[in-house]
Amino acid sequence: MGRQACTLQFCTISYNWNDSITTFLEFLMAKKIIITGASTGIGAETSRMLAPGNEIIVHYYSSKGPAEAVAADIEKAGGKAHLLQADLSKSDECERFVAECAKLFPVVDVLVNNAGGLIRRQPINELDWDFMIETFALNTFSTMKVTSLCVPLLEKAEDPVIINMTSIAMRHGAPSATLYGASKGALDTFTRGAATELAPKKIRVNAVAPGVIETPFHEKVSTPEKMKSFKENTPLKRNGRARHIAQAVKYLIENDFMTGATVDVNGGLFMY
Ligand SMILES: NC(=O)c1ccc[n+]([C@@H]2O[C@H](COP(=O)([O-])OP(=O)(O)OC[C@H]3O[C@@H](n4cnc5c(N)ncnc54)[C@H](OP(=O)(O)O)[C@@H]3O)[C@@H](O)[C@H]2O)c1
Repeated sequence: MGRQACTLQFCTISYNWNDSITTFLEFLMAKKIIITGASTGIGAETSRMLAPGNEIIVHYYSSKGPAEAVAADIEKAGGKAHLLQADLSKSDECERFVAECAKLFPVVDVLVNNAGGLIRRQPINELDWDFMIETFALNTFSTMKVTSLCVPLLEKAEDPVIINMTSIAMRHGAPSATLYGASKGALDTFTRGAATELAPKKIRVNAVAPGVIETPFHEKVSTPEKMKSFKENTPLKRNGRARHIAQAVKYLIENDFMTGATVDVNGGLFMY
């Protein structure tokens, strides 16, 4: 009851009392969701899937136009969208980003740490220090920092959950993407540690490990021939779509007994 009363206090700040009581109840039910890297690919599709009845911070880095389109789709689907830009590979930008999130959402229900990517394919014998830092800053430190700063916002929610986007590359590497796989592997370990450490605060922490998913990610780093060979090597003989990953994220939000789990969604390309 204490928590509900607290939520009501926030409502009195921003709710338009000219709207109906039904709208007010919907406002109370809406989950406050932060999705990083929501401008394109998996983050965009996840935003669209979670839109009905929810309020979403659509984070983007450089793709402002696509992020605006995602925000418009959220509103069309009956949700509410806020756009925030930040380079999450930088510590001070993570701080600014979460401070801006906190102004919009004093209580956060869901944090989807999705921003990331394979900067370029680089063989192990050509790795240099700056590239190692750059890769881990984008894929690992960004999520660790944003998560750390969001804990005080999440712990005030009823069933708070964090979902981290890892990768099949952490399972068995990927062609010239060993460093990227390692950065996601660290994130997977972080997920389980955070799940244990944050359980007393009732914060659940899970991960999704996508296989090969057709998004702008591969437009930059995989040739059409490589995409074809991924398909042929996958037992289901096809690559995945962003919606396959969005469905896993939605499931992890809804299932309140899941924490410390990594859900592999890869058409059978990796099986334990
Ligand atoms: N597609 C796959 O096959 C696959 C497989 C395994 C894991 N994943 C993971 O899934 C996640 C989403 O990837 P995707 O496939 O949807 O690719 P994507 O369409 O390229 O999306 C990447 C997102 O990350 C954001 N981003 C890039 N650099 C950033 C930075 N410095 N600071 C903040 N945000 C930044 C991008 O923002 P802007 O566009 O606005 O710059 C974009 O929204 C990534 O973590 C990726 O590693 C993808």
